[in-house]
Amino acid sequence: MKIHNTVAGIREALRSDRAASGPKRIVFVPTMGNLHDGHIQLVRDARKHGDTVVASIFVNRLQFLPGEDFQKYPRTFEADCALLIEAGVDHLFAPSEDELYPQPQRYVVEPPAEHADILEGAIRPGHFRGVATVVMKLFHIVRPHAALFGKKDFQQFLVLSSMVRELAEPIEVIPGETVRAPDGLALSSRNGYLTPAERAEAPRLHRELSAIVSAVRAGERDWAKLEQKAIAELKSHGWAPDYVVIRRCSDLQPPTGPDDGPLVVLAAARLGAPRLIDNIEI
Ligand code: PAJ
Repeated sequence: MKIHNTVAGIREALRSDRAASGPKRIVFVPTMGNLHDGHIQLVRDARKHGDTVVASIFVNRLQFLPGEDFQKYPRTFEADCALLIEAGVDHLFAPSEDELYPQPQRYVVEPPAEHADILEGAIRPGHFRGVATVVMKLFHIVRPHAALFGKKDFQQFLVLSSMVRELAEPIEVIPGETVRAPDGLALSSRNGYLTPAERAEAPRLHRELSAIVSAVRAGERDWAKLEQKAIAELKSHGWAPDYVVIRRCSDLQPPTGPDDGPLVVLAAARLGAPRLIDNIEI
């Protein structure tokens, strides 16, 4: 695996790959590091979709709100590199903040309010502008043919796949399934913030979502009742839920009738200090 810290460096490496062995299909997996099996599964999937696998590690200040965990976000570069090498990454782009943002980023990608100001965006205003902007910038540096994003961050996937489509980027956006611990907890870099007692409680979020999925599959259509029951259950076990909602997969709007297509149940809740998100497609 070749490691590049500069924009010029990764561009030159990809150019000389092409010169040496002809056009390659480049598949890209952007990350913020502190890698776990969820990220590594995306890298392994990437291998199936192309010839050259490029990953990036960059903790993107633009997508953190003031007071969020930007400063203390776990940075584990050496361990991350070992995992990426084992997973068969060809090129890693790991720029410094000065390299990617040599001046304050004034030109940004502004996702539409109906995607970016609901759910995660309602709790974290501006978050998806930060995500869309950095991903677009990384796309313009790496120029991939395809890019993979996990469905663990379902709304992020909607925003980025819509961005690529509406701005006619010639990039195939490919979803990766959510990777979970054996007890159901979705893997996340932020799980490291959980105390042992919180870690033991954490799988409840997935259990509550699974219960909603089972109820809907069994014919229940009172969405509000299901959502409120899960919220009450979480609260009674010490959680502070931001939302538990049943939405359409296509646009994350509330279901309206039989033509809604597939649904997804999404939740975000604080357990002590850490905030966990999860979702299951119904
Ligand atoms: P990060 O949280 O590091 O996640 C990188 C990628 O891994 C994202 O596509 C995310 O959805 C995926 N991922 C995380 N946990 C997963 C899990 N348990 N199973 C499957 N996939 C999982 O998401 C970001 O970084 C950033 O917002 C980024 C897109 C890199 C822009 O800065």
